[in-house]
Amino acid sequence: FSEFLTDSFHRQHDYLRISITERCNLRCLYCMPEAEGVPLSPPAHLLTTPEIVYLSSLFVSQGVTKIRLTGGEPTVRRDVIPLMQSIGALRSKGLRELALTTNGISLHRKLDSMVEAGLTGVNLSLDTLDPFQFQIMTRRKGFEAVMKCIDRILEMKKLGAKLKLKVNCVVMRGLNERDIVPFVELGREKDIEVRFIEYMPFGGNKWSEGKMISFHEMLDIIRAKYPGLRGVPSHKNDTSKTFEVPGFVGKVGFITSMTNDFCGTCNRLRITGDGNLKVCLHGNDEVSLRDLLRKDNGGEPIDQEAFDRIKQIEMDRREGILGDETTLGWGERERELLDVIG
Ligand code: GTP
Ligand code: 5AD
Ligand code: SF4
Repeated sequence: FSEFLTDSFHRQHDYLRISITERCNLRCLYCMPEAEGVPLSPPAHLLTTPEIVYLSSLFVSQGVTKIRLTGGEPTVRRDVIPLMQSIGALRSKGLRELALTTNGISLHRKLDSMVEAGLTGVNLSLDTLDPFQFQIMTRRKGFEAVMKCIDRILEMKKLGAKLKLKVNCVVMRGLNERDIVPFVELGREKDIEVRFIEYMPFGGNKWSEGKMISFHEMLDIIRAKYPGLRGVPSHKNDTSKTFEVPGFVGKVGFITSMTNDFCGTCNRLRITGDGNLKVCLHGNDEVSLRDLLRKDNGGEPIDQEAFDRIKQIEMDRREGILGDETTLGWGERERELLDVIG
């Protein structure tokens, strides 16, 4: 494994998340303000498709084995399929997983080509099983399209596609806690992992502690109906804690970003839509890969200096991750979390 992707906590960063667009076709309450959406970078600042493909191949050559495409909403990028085909071709170079985090609104038509291109996993954002509530939480219509997409994925899995399906459900008090039990119930027959996410503050999402439902409260809600719910070992680098209801096909997970951090096992690197490399979701340190790619360095797309700088972006103090002490010098600017977790 390349030393270049190992940090001072001996964590090997073999998982790269790439935000391929800042735009989105929904306006989820916990994410984007309705009117203005999120501030968008000037188009010339965004990575081009050849740049994304180049960076992907560079990171795969250095030991990255999993790439997740995120956004905004990645499927709104016009050339998302050719992009995925090019990244999918890196399987011969060591890429093992190619995943997508999407709201599923416009995925249905693209799904077959994506699977053909090498898509191995879909994390689908869906917060409610009630069409009216969907419209309240996303401020848009589209519930049926998302459900159709879930059905198609399950059908493809039955037909033998190696495609993992997870549903991400951000739980907000007063909005969708009633959906927790129906979501768990989905797993009785369907091979889906539903992950309940603690609502996190960022940007202008008007977070308040009262609206957040903690992991423990969610567990209580589920156990009242399914007393058998029990923990199962999670994979080493998972952001979520995994549970199961005995006899159910699906799994239940919890992403406990607010009450129980998982930074110590984090193996992710992130590239933002405008081409900055970011090691930690919570830090402000960013280095522009785009600038390095575009500067004239004798025909070599990325030079040793770039590698050395990247290597220096380490989360040096685990205890500093959630505090203010993470500024190591690059990029002072606060970024919408969305562009990173998208
Ligand atoms: P897999 O583990 O590959 O399934 O993906 P993931 O869970 O990392 O990615 P996904 O895009 O589905 O993100 C789900 C949630 O994980 C997001 O809403 C975030 O809350 C959380 N998340 C992702 N990466 C990080 C991270 O580095 N730190 C924290 N605190 N939360 C993260
Ligand atoms: N808190 C928790 N999760 C969030 N997501 C977006 N905004 C928030 C927030 N404020 C989730 C989306 C998506 C994932 C990538 O991030 O639901 O599934
Ligand atoms: Fe779009 Fe995802 Fe944000 Fe919802 S949470 S507005 S689907 S980027």
